[in-house]
Amino acid sequence: MSHMDVGVPSSPGKFKSEKPHLHHHQRFLLRWHNYLPKLFVWSFFAAAVLLALFLISPNSSSTSSGFPHSSFTTERRFLRTSSAPTWGGPEWEKRVRSSARIRRRPFGISVLVTGAAGFVGTHVSNALRRRGDGVVGLDNFNDYYEPSLKRARQALLSHSGIFVVEGDINDGALLAKLFDLVAFTHVCHLAAQAGVRYAMVNPGSYVDSNVAGLVSLLEAARSANPQPAIVWASSSSVYGLNTQVPFSEVHLTDHPASLYAATKKAGEEIAHVYNHIYGLSITGLRFFTVYGPWGRPDMAYFFFTKDILSGKPITIFEGPEGATVARDFTYIDDIVQGCIASLDTAQKSTGSGGSKKGPAQLRVFNLGNTSPVPVVELVSILERQLKVKAKRKVVKMPGNGDVLFTHANISLAKKELGYHPNTDLQTGLKRFVKWYLAYYAPPSRTYLSKKGRSGGSSSS
Ligand SMILES: NC(=O)c1ccc[n+]([C@@H]2O[C@H](COP(=O)([O-])OP(=O)(O)OC[C@H]3O[C@@H](n4cnc5c(N)ncnc54)[C@H](O)[C@@H]3O)[C@@H](O)[C@H]2O)c1
Repeated sequence: MSHMDVGVPSSPGKFKSEKPHLHHHQRFLLRWHNYLPKLFVWSFFAAAVLLALFLISPNSSSTSSGFPHSSFTTERRFLRTSSAPTWGGPEWEKRVRSSARIRRRPFGISVLVTGAAGFVGTHVSNALRRRGDGVVGLDNFNDYYEPSLKRARQALLSHSGIFVVEGDINDGALLAKLFDLVAFTHVCHLAAQAGVRYAMVNPGSYVDSNVAGLVSLLEAARSANPQPAIVWASSSSVYGLNTQVPFSEVHLTDHPASLYAATKKAGEEIAHVYNHIYGLSITGLRFFTVYGPWGRPDMAYFFFTKDILSGKPITIFEGPEGATVARDFTYIDDIVQGCIASLDTAQKSTGSGGSKKGPAQLRVFNLGNTSPVPVVELVSILERQLKVKAKRKVVKMPGNGDVLFTHANISLAKKELGYHPNTDLQTGLKRFVKWYLAYYAPPSRTYLSKKGRSGGSSSS
């Protein structure tokens, strides 16, 4: 098209064009005017290509399983993991197989425990191994809280002959390899980004581990042959702003108070889908504020202990009009008993080769202690155990995702799992304090300045 065609309709022959008499600068402007639509189209294509390149670039979009990261956040923080995951090779495969070997016949099970270097994961793995089940752990050892504590738990497990594979639940190839090597009968899925308040600092980590990671794991499980039964950790936080107590599994859970709670609620819905479509047998466990030896440093009972011992003031929250904040503290051994009973009563998945052969079991249980204790009472018990007076600072609870109280109705778990929590807070904290002092305060007591506290959640 030349400048002579300017102003002429596209269909030829209808008009006879008259060559306009134009000055040089007018012709220049008209030429640009003429090129503009073309320019626009090419710019559009260029933008589309750039966008596509951006979306498929490894930094912007995906984990190794191909699940998109949230590209809508402007600032993205990643938790550090130890190094590039190293897995594979004959020696590594040998260790996986050996760790998965069942020593208890004929009823033993073989369990992949995700989050095995975590608080609950370590205890569950050990308990399974003690009775002769095969256990392979998986953990990415991220630095949400002190990785040295996770390494110490790993050493403990290694001592019992349990191999903890270092890797991420979002690594689909790693999961496929594990299911290839071992016909796991069960998965106890405990890996997650825990903590309520940290969700305001690093929301993406909750989406990565609790949503994308869960889907990655369920994808691997539904493709495995045989399909394992899944027992996984949801949370009491799904009850969110509910006021009807005690919290029961039949109550609605539509009002989460934190992103953490929302990702656990999403997990329960995702579990429903994988059960419905692929015939995976899935049991979700709503833990209520678990505490005990080898616990999580971001939880109140843990950092209160640290701060009381070092003479630092501790902050205790109260609700509106001085309302007491209370938690249904549940001792780790009781939680382990509930996890193992869930594994033992889980029915087989019904799918194979990725498709469903019939309806499969889908369950949700509260695992609590069913006796909420005010947080001020927790502090008094710690003061007695530690023989140190706390410097208490009472402040109004900020709106950061914590709820005022939790209280579990555990009748369903009692009936279906034979779940009977029997450790009161006094007894459980005594055991925790004993462990804490042995772990952090060997004679010199230099630990207090060395170890840091991360996060700041009192529950979950
Ligand atoms: N402890 C509680 O009070 C409590 C309460 C309710 C629910 N839960 C749930 O129970 C489970 C266990 O909790 P915990 O207290 O042992 O927490 P934890 O943080 O000690 O353990 C979780 C482990 O998972 C690992 N992990 C996280 N993301 C991972 C990923 N993408 N890939 C591989 N490993 C990953 C972490 O490194 C950690 O070792 C979690 O799902 C948690 O949300 C715990």
